Amino acid sequence: MKYELETTELQVEQVALQTEDTSSYEDLNIFLPILEQSLDFDKNYRQLMYVHEAAIQQITARLNTLKGEFEFSNDRNPIDSISGRIKSKESILHKMQKLGLPLTASALMDNIHDIAGVRVVCPFIEDVYAVARMLVRQHGIEVIQVKDYIRNPKENGYRSLHMIVKTEVDFAESTKYITVEIQIRTIAMNFWASTEHQLRYKKDRSFTEETQKKLKECADLMAKADLQMQEIAGDFDVNQW
Ligand code: GTP
Ligand code: MG
Repeated sequence: MKYELETTELQVEQVALQTEDTSSYEDLNIFLPILEQSLDFDKNYRQLMYVHEAAIQQITARLNTLKGEFEFSNDRNPIDSISGRIKSKESILHKMQKLGLPLTASALMDNIHDIAGVRVVCPFIEDVYAVARMLVRQHGIEVIQVKDYIRNPKENGYRSLHMIVKTEVDFAESTKYITVEIQIRTIAMNFWASTEHQLRYKKDRSFTEETQKKLKECADLMAKADLQMQEIAGDFDVNQW
């Protein structure tokens, strides 16, 4: 549909009405009390969340150290922003249910690798890889898996560099390696992914074929812009690492 300013208000109202449909939450409401009864899971859950929170702090600190270093020593920064999030209980339960996993702490630890998530946004494509390299060569970080959705975009056009790492965190009586999912992407890729996420947030709403096509076109436009910006960066001889 062609975008017209006059129709904006109406569209907003329609969206608001649609979000009142709570049918997709019903399963979860039934599922939650089962969690409370699952002693093993419940007993370990908060501790698990705590160690992953510590791992987010750890990775975020590593990245902030890099960002700070570039702030005073260079004319530009390969890191635009850094953010971290712990996966919500609802989202963890959904994923465990989807994978048919038992509600135990060990099943959670072994199978869900994005309890701790860190996202880094960079100006240029080359910065994405530079930041990834700077991070993985650090002590106390072990790379478990790399998924390069920049070189191999998802079918819907999604692009990002994903890394699952284990980071060393010291606690009072032990040192643990905690799994963290790190997503590194350009500002343009982040624009697309954040906006696309908003379109289907908390709803397993499937896009029509036409919408999928339009979204993919937007993703490809972003990719083209990224390539061109990278090209200009080359012409201008801006710092690369
Ligand atoms: P998940 O079960 O979602 O963790 O998928 P996965 O284990 O196959 O990992 P994958 O690397 O495909 O994606 C993990 C994360 O990347 C997601 O939780 C999102 O944050 C992000 N992501 C992947 N695909 C898309 C997408 O099409 N759109 C958006 N907005 N984000 C995506
Ligand atoms: Mg995920």
